[in-house]
Amino acid sequence: MSRRQSLLKQLGIKYPILQSPMAGVSTPEMAQSVTNAGGLGAIPLSTINFLQPDSIAKTEWLMENFFNGLTSSTNHHASTPVNFNFFSHTVEQPPTPDEVNNWKSMYAKLGIPTTTFNQISTFENGNVSFNEFCADGEATRRIRDILEAYKPAIISFHFGIPKLPQELLTQLEKNNNSNTLIFVTATSIAEVERIVSSEYTIHGIILQGYEAGGHRGNFAHSSKYDENMPSLTLLQRTLAYFSGSPTRPYLVVAGGIMDSNDIKVFLQAGADAVQLGTAFLASQESTTMKFFSNVNQPKLAAQATVMVDAVSGKPARAVRTQFINEVIQHSSTVGPLPPYGYAYGAYKKLKGLNVDTSLDLGFYLAGMNYYRLDRELCSTKQVMEKLISGLE
Ligand SMILES: Cc1cc2nc3c(=O)[nH]c(=O)nc-3n(C[C@H](O)[C@H](O)[C@H](O)COP(=O)(O)O)c2cc1C
Repeated sequence: MSRRQSLLKQLGIKYPILQSPMAGVSTPEMAQSVTNAGGLGAIPLSTINFLQPDSIAKTEWLMENFFNGLTSSTNHHASTPVNFNFFSHTVEQPPTPDEVNNWKSMYAKLGIPTTTFNQISTFENGNVSFNEFCADGEATRRIRDILEAYKPAIISFHFGIPKLPQELLTQLEKNNNSNTLIFVTATSIAEVERIVSSEYTIHGIILQGYEAGGHRGNFAHSSKYDENMPSLTLLQRTLAYFSGSPTRPYLVVAGGIMDSNDIKVFLQAGADAVQLGTAFLASQESTTMKFFSNVNQPKLAAQATVMVDAVSGKPARAVRTQFINEVIQHSSTVGPLPPYGYAYGAYKKLKGLNVDTSLDLGFYLAGMNYYRLDRELCSTKQVMEKLISGLE
């Protein structure tokens, strides 16, 4: 059996197509449509704070929506064909008063009325790291409970390899009879090396190329000294790194893959599967559908994406709108901004206030190839049908 067939069998899916978990953008309905079509849907759990008791209810709500209307039979397979995604970055400290002031100065330079900041009196961490959960007994138990209840086919980590406590490893081993595989994102060979020398087995790697939309999952090098490999080079280099070794983790490539021809290129080059995010952004199950289905098509090709860290606190590829241009311009003039999680939380609060400004404050995460979005495809189901028909 080929590596690809073995992966499909373990995940209980028909096609080597994974939907990118997209926190705040993908929905349980999107995940359900991808799984129903024979791929693997994803549920991002990174915005849920498992230090809090309501985290279980929030997860249950997402899963109710995922299961409601799921036609793909999960009975014959012990695990649920879904990917639970977490963020495992270094634990961040709350921002200093200077960082908070710099953040306010930056948004004031963008024309946000300073009175608005009275409504953002506290900076809370909007993305608590999985590592923080692992250091807390209650949070660990809550995560163990959801892993036990739902037995996801994959549990995946972005921004690093978490130090998993024994309690979770034991649960995942129990789940292993039902195939919960552990995946971690890598953007470089240094990260691939760390993954294979991890103290527990990591079954698969999401190879995230530089084209990819959303946050870059790098953890070995800072962005400044990163090789910034595109998806195909990253795959080829990783295969070369493993050549001659009897075993290797599953390799799933993510970044810039928009249609079935792209998928074929990566499968032929040796990927076990592919992961697509941007391809789903104009569908009705995406929370940013309005933006991506309304922009003028010729303009779309001309409008760049850019890797920007000043909105969330970590590098992320987003459409270079007027808002992003101004953020880039003013962030360099104000000094250090709050760390990831805190900066992102404050930005989301600000955006939620619907401030009176001529700027669209949307932070439209998207991959470099977003200009190729097929806006005739209005639903995730249609996107999947087109991808699959091109493969068969
Ligand atoms: C809107 C958006 C949000 C994303 N959010 C996440 C996330 O929550 N977790 C994650 O592991 N990756 C996230 N990513 C990155 C994807 O996993 C993947 O690397 C990317 O979608 C692949 O590139 P593509 O968008 O060009 O297909 C996100 C990507 C996008 C476009």
